[in-house]
Parts: sequence; C-alpha cells; structure tokens
Amino acid sequence: MNRLQAKTALITGSAGGIGRAIAEGYVREGARVAIADISFQQAQKTAAALGSAAIAVHLDVTRQESIDACVEACIAAWGHLDILVNNAAIFDMGPFLEITEKSYDQIFAVNVKGALFMLQACAKVMVAQGKGGKIINMASQAGRRGEPLVAVYCASKAAVISLTQSAGLALIKDRINVNGISPGVVDTPMWDEVDALFARYEHRPRGEKKRLVGEAVPFGRMGLPEDHVGAAIFLASGESDFVVAQTLNVDGGNWMS
Ligand SMILES: NC(=O)c1ccc[n+]([C@@H]2O[C@H](COP(=O)([O-])OP(=O)(O)OC[C@H]3O[C@@H](n4cnc5c(N)ncnc54)[C@H](O)[C@@H]3O)[C@@H](O)[C@H]2O)c1
Repeated sequence: MNRLQAKTALITGSAGGIGRAIAEGYVREGARVAIADISFQQAQKTAAALGSAAIAVHLDVTRQESIDACVEACIAAWGHLDILVNNAAIFDMGPFLEITEKSYDQIFAVNVKGALFMLQACAKVMVAQGKGGKIINMASQAGRRGEPLVAVYCASKAAVISLTQSAGLALIKDRINVNGISPGVVDTPMWDEVDALFARYEHRPRGEKKRLVGEAVPFGRMGLPEDHVGAAIFLASGESDFVVAQTLNVDGGNWMS
C-alpha cells in the first residue's frame, strides 16, 4: 500500500528505537523522511540504510536555531513538509526527595519545550503551505499516571498529552491534525537505561524490571518499536482526518482512557 505516497515527514529522534521503526514504515508507504537526531552519525547510518527516500539532519530540539535549520533543510530537500513526528525524548528517574533542578531542566527542555517548538516551527510551515498537515507527538503511559520514582518524566509526558490537546484545537481550522501516540513499555535503548535505573533504585538484578513489566502487559510481552508503526501511519494519513487532539494508547492493553 502507498498511504503516504508523495508525502514528506520529519521524524525527530529517529536514529534508532521507535522513531526509526516509524521512518521505515513511512518509507514503505511511499513517503520521504528526514532522520533528525542529536546523534548525527547514527542518523546518517539509519538514513543510509533506508535508501534514497531518507535524509539525515542534525537536530537538537532544545535549541531554536537547530529546530529552524532542521525545518529549512527539509524544505530545501523536498520543497514542502507534510508530517511531523515529535518523537525525541530523554528519560531520568530517582527518589522524589532527590530530584535535581538539572534533571528537571534537561527532561523538560527535550520532552516538553523541544516538542512544543518543533511543533510550532512545522505548523508555521504547514499553515503557510495552506494544505493542512499531520503532527504526531510521542507521549507515554507515564503521562497518564504518576510513578513514585519517575515524577519528572511522567510530568513531561502529561505535558505532551496536554500540548497535543491545545495544539490540536488551535490548528484544526488550518486542517492540521495534531494527535499523540502513548506507548506503554517498549524494548528500545531507552528501556535498557530505564532498567538500569530501576535496578539501582529498587535494588534489583539487571534485567528483572524489564522482565516483570513485560509479563504484566495484558498482551503478554513488552512492546516492540514496530508495534507503533500502524498507528503512526494511520495518524499521518488521510484516514485520520477527523481525529483531532487525541492521544492513542498503543500499549498492549496497559492503560485505558
Ligand atoms: N521505550 C519505551 O518504553 C517508551 C515508552 C513510552 C513512550 N516512549 C516514548 O517514545 C519515544 C521514542 O522512545 P525510544 O524508546 O525509541 O527512545 P530512544 O532513546 O531509543 O530514542 C530517542 C532518540 O531521541 C534522540 N534525542 C535525544 N535528545 C535529543 C535532542 N535534544 N534532539 C534531538 N534528538 C534527541 C536520541 O538520540 C535517540 O535517537 C520517546 O518520546 C519516548 O519518551 C518510549
């Protein structure tokens, strides 16, 4: 199928993990994609593996000039921008009474401020183009409910869900659909880091938390990056034109809302 034929998509944090799987899915559906990541060498490798439909762009979502340069690079390559997947994020955790300002600032700079100003920069281009667009924010089940050791990351993802609602309502008059995907627990490099931190703070052997959260998923296993591709294609395609300001749980049944 070619549900994204002739479309162009900027995918942040897509050098690996869920973002890379979405980029691969979009290319299969006929889109051209920008692998935009702070890890530029890895982005170049990923783009090379995807072939001529992919370009690699250096991006630090915490810096407005980097966001602007990234969007300009996409327009220079393609002449137009149809889809943004706001996927870049970082994780940290620790006991509530030990949360540091540095950790808070870093997480909110990438996960919230970065997502907002990426969204704004791409939406400005889409409004000027006058042909609508699709924006997909990667939230998390962490944004649906707090966790004692994960307060700041949870708050950042709750903010992503809220921004999806506000931006969705602000931009639908321009036929820009802003929606979110809320993964549960997904086996990516990020979860290796999460597992190591839980091992430290809950005094567990490495790998145990990952095994337990996987067993607790109603589907019976952790998510894989590929599990999110179908929802990401749907929300980028014309099939979702009437879906506005929603965040879709793609988590094997972990959360209902
Ligand atoms: N893995 C999970 O269990 C899980 C669960 C729920 C939600 N999510 C969300 O899904 C998305 C993808 O997660 P993942 O597990 O693939 O993560 P990942 O860590 O594998 O990938 C994140 C990517 O973002 C990039 N990045 C980090 N800071 C950046 C910055 N300042 N500018 C540009 N790029 C930057 C990294 O280099 C990396 O390639 C994230 O938004 C994450 O919060 C993940």
